[in-house]
Amino acid sequence: MRSARTAAAAFMVAAVAMTAAGCADVQGDDSSLVGVAMPTTTLLRWVDDGEDVQEQLENLGYDVDLRYAENDVATQVQQVGEMIDEGADLLIVGAIDGTALKDQLARAAAADIPVVSYDRLIRDTPDIAYYATFDNLAVGTMQGHSLARAVGLEDAEGNKIEGAGPFTLELFAGSPDDNNATVFYEGAMSVLDPYISAGDLVVTSGEKDFATIATEGWDSAKSGERMAALLTEHYAGGKRPDAVLAPNDGIAISVIEAIRSHGAPAGVVVTGQDAELASVKSIVAGEQTSTIYKNTQLLAEVAVSMGHALLSGREPETNDLTSYDNGVKVVPTMLLAPQLVTQDNLERVLVESGAFTAEEIR
Ligand code: BGC
Repeated sequence: MRSARTAAAAFMVAAVAMTAAGCADVQGDDSSLVGVAMPTTTLLRWVDDGEDVQEQLENLGYDVDLRYAENDVATQVQQVGEMIDEGADLLIVGAIDGTALKDQLARAAAADIPVVSYDRLIRDTPDIAYYATFDNLAVGTMQGHSLARAVGLEDAEGNKIEGAGPFTLELFAGSPDDNNATVFYEGAMSVLDPYISAGDLVVTSGEKDFATIATEGWDSAKSGERMAALLTEHYAGGKRPDAVLAPNDGIAISVIEAIRSHGAPAGVVVTGQDAELASVKSIVAGEQTSTIYKNTQLLAEVAVSMGHALLSGREPETNDLTSYDNGVKVVPTMLLAPQLVTQDNLERVLVESGAFTAEEIR
């Protein structure tokens, strides 16, 4: 999968590099070391993120220390500490727990090491310089509209179809320690809540608030267990909800599996995020309804460009100076655009763009 992504996105990435870095031929100082901390290898997206960031930094002449922490907060805290101790000149951090890195980042600041927050906002610290991410609120609203449209409550323009419904729904959210999870939830609920209030969507279990529906560590084993329990308790006799809001593909696949094991008929609307290969195949097969494609190679490019600018004494490019308050300051941010993927546009968005080959997704 990665080779297809890499080859086809190369041109686009080079183009962004030229713009965002100011000039493509500025090389990193030979002695400069960049510490790259990524959360986990359990989702393919993070494997790609880490490798792309590393490759692009090395192309600019930097040495790179890339570490994954397998969703263990203490491990990541230790890894970041070691990067500081070994003399990193820059840190690019995809945090596991958005608040746990505070002390290490204070040490980084004391040593004049700038920090770029990668994909997830690091919270409660003044010691991050910039944030590179996707428009996370838009991810959530896209998921909400995708669900509403697929059950038949909305037309393609997002307008309510009067007289449709009511439809049953269950809700899942991501990890409470990941700032993104709250933003995805807010985005999705901004679309779904009015339908719930109007009785067009009915959350059969009544489980709706973020804390109740969150999935610790984005752990799909946990979401699978919760879905199985919901089905047993509220959908006896092989029944199933009409729709499930799943915040990412790992959770979506676990939900679909639980519905299958429950012996319920197919045809449940299930959202997702990340365009992980298993979910892309599931959409092709008519199981999962949608995913959100986030071109993480471009995200890597933005983060690398930000870091390179900081180490070269230039100001990184941003496009959002208001949305991401981390509890201490509003962090200057570069937001990239996510794309909704359904059966209707999958070929164009994922195959024609070169993210996947036609063979990979069948
Ligand atoms: C990312 C998602 C990912 C999730 C679980 C979020 O912070 O934005 O793309 O699915 O973490 O790793």
